[in-house]
Amino acid sequence: MGARRWVVAILLVAVLLAGVSLAYLRGPGPLAFAGSQTVPLSAYRAGQPTGVPLELAPADALARGRYLTQAADCQACHTPEGGAAFIGGRPFKTPFGTLYSTNLTPDRDTGLGAWDEAQFLRALHEGVRPDGTHLYPAFPYAAYTALVDEDVRAIYAYLRSLAPVHHPVPANELGFPFNQRWLMGLWSALFNPDRRFAPYPQRTPEWNRGAYLAEALGHCGECHTPRNVLQALNQRRKFAGALTNGWQAYNITTQPASGVGAWTDEELAQYLATGHAAHHGTASGPMGEAVQMSLSHLTPGDVQALVTYLRSIPALSAPDLPAVRTEPASAAPGPAAAGGQLGRDVFAGACAGCHPWSGTSELWERASLLGARAVNDPSAVNVVQIVLHGFAPAGEGRDMPAFGADYSDEEIAAVANFVTARFGARGAALSAAEVARLRARS
Ligand code: HEC
Ligand code: HEC
Ligand code: HEC
Repeated sequence: MGARRWVVAILLVAVLLAGVSLAYLRGPGPLAFAGSQTVPLSAYRAGQPTGVPLELAPADALARGRYLTQAADCQACHTPEGGAAFIGGRPFKTPFGTLYSTNLTPDRDTGLGAWDEAQFLRALHEGVRPDGTHLYPAFPYAAYTALVDEDVRAIYAYLRSLAPVHHPVPANELGFPFNQRWLMGLWSALFNPDRRFAPYPQRTPEWNRGAYLAEALGHCGECHTPRNVLQALNQRRKFAGALTNGWQAYNITTQPASGVGAWTDEELAQYLATGHAAHHGTASGPMGEAVQMSLSHLTPGDVQALVTYLRSIPALSAPDLPAVRTEPASAAPGPAAAGGQLGRDVFAGACAGCHPWSGTSELWERASLLGARAVNDPSAVNVVQIVLHGFAPAGEGRDMPAFGADYSDEEIAAVANFVTARFGARGAALSAAEVARLRARS
């Protein structure tokens, strides 16, 4: 073969390999596990998977829009820490730089005041702004693309009813080439199906409602499904757990040891609706926020539908998560406490007043450490985050204080190692440097 033919052959192989790897990265869709037979929504008679639940159907348009906006949890990402709701400016630290959410109030200069409904629909379904530029998928439009037009219109109407707040948000800090928005057009072509939800007739109406709530509205996978190298969700590991914004969003598949397969329906429903389930711990950080701003506002029927849907997710194990320990710890730790002396001392001084040495709190069930996945995660990532940032559940009146400002990285590593060793399945071995890294990421 001549040199030119070699070049052509090599190029062909390269193109083929690129095609195969893109097809691999694209992978199955989020509902591929449910089968391939769908019917158009207009032909589905068994139930109403989209919109608001039946009991809210008579409510006025704004109440319906509010319900859907809450179910889609727009507020969590579009509200800065300590700031007014929906004014934007919350930072998202990605491996490529920092992005900021935008102002969703109807302010003309800094918010959505000048957007019409068609422009809003296009942003939610296609990730494209009115000027034609592409949005980053940190805004989960690859999930919202499944929302039916009517629901997007209801969300638009609700956001239009908010008081306009003038609040410019910082410009994104992304290096070349990630600051090139047109690249997101390519991303979108690969990973955004741009298709509305279509029901699965072999599944129950409740399952279909749950699928719409989890995939189109609640975007559970955005935190609980790991990403591929192009930052798209890897649905082959659907809901098997991922590190998102410095927190572990755990395995929520039906796997019994490392997932939620061993939880009862009631426990799952209680966790989603209230942020706590007896013997399974409390939702803190991003999950605590999702419960506060979104899931706790769902009707009991919708929570049940989410549970039904979760029960159908294929079991996948997370090899780094041991089964949760259930036997209580001894009343008081001996001098050679597992997890080390410094950790024991920090716990005695800073934690034992609220968290009994046994791991279960009679007075205050939400502060029980026994059974919580975070405490049974040997990476101790969430325990560190909880100790650094604390958590204030709405309406509970009992907060987990933040220790980040007053305690050193060494002390926080030590207390996390102690807590996981004493109350969990396997003790962590965190160093002060790892705590410093987690501080920087959140
Ligand atoms: C997981 C976090 C997250 C959630 C949830 C989220 N957004 Fe966003 N949104 C962002 C980020 C980050 C951006 C900025 C993206 C960029 O700069 O390309 C954004 C941008 C937008 C934009 C573009 C605005 C502009 O001025 O360019 C609109 C519109 C929007 N979001 C609406 C919504 C609505 C409506 C919801 C709920 C249905 C929602 N978002 C939920 C993170 C989120
Ligand atoms: C913004 C990110 C985020 C979103 C969105 C999210 N989660 Fe979570 N979820 C987390 C994190 C982080 C944890 C761990 C919380 C902790 O350790 O306190 C968690 C924990 C959980 C748990 C408890 C798991 C265990 O083993 O303790 C369940 C169940 C759960 N999420 C279900 C859901 C469902 C269902 C949805 C969608 C309706 C959802 N999550 C959406 C981040 C998220
Ligand atoms: C003032 C009382 C108080 C103190 C002091 C305190 N905590 Fe907490 N902690 C709580 C409460 C209350 C919760 C549950 C918060 C909720 O309901 O969301 C909690 C939650 C937690 C959780 C999450 C449990 C789960 O179910 O996932 C961990 C881990 C934790 N605390 C560790 C510590 C450590 C370590 C210290 C000491 C450095 C400490 N706490 C000090 C009150 C306290």
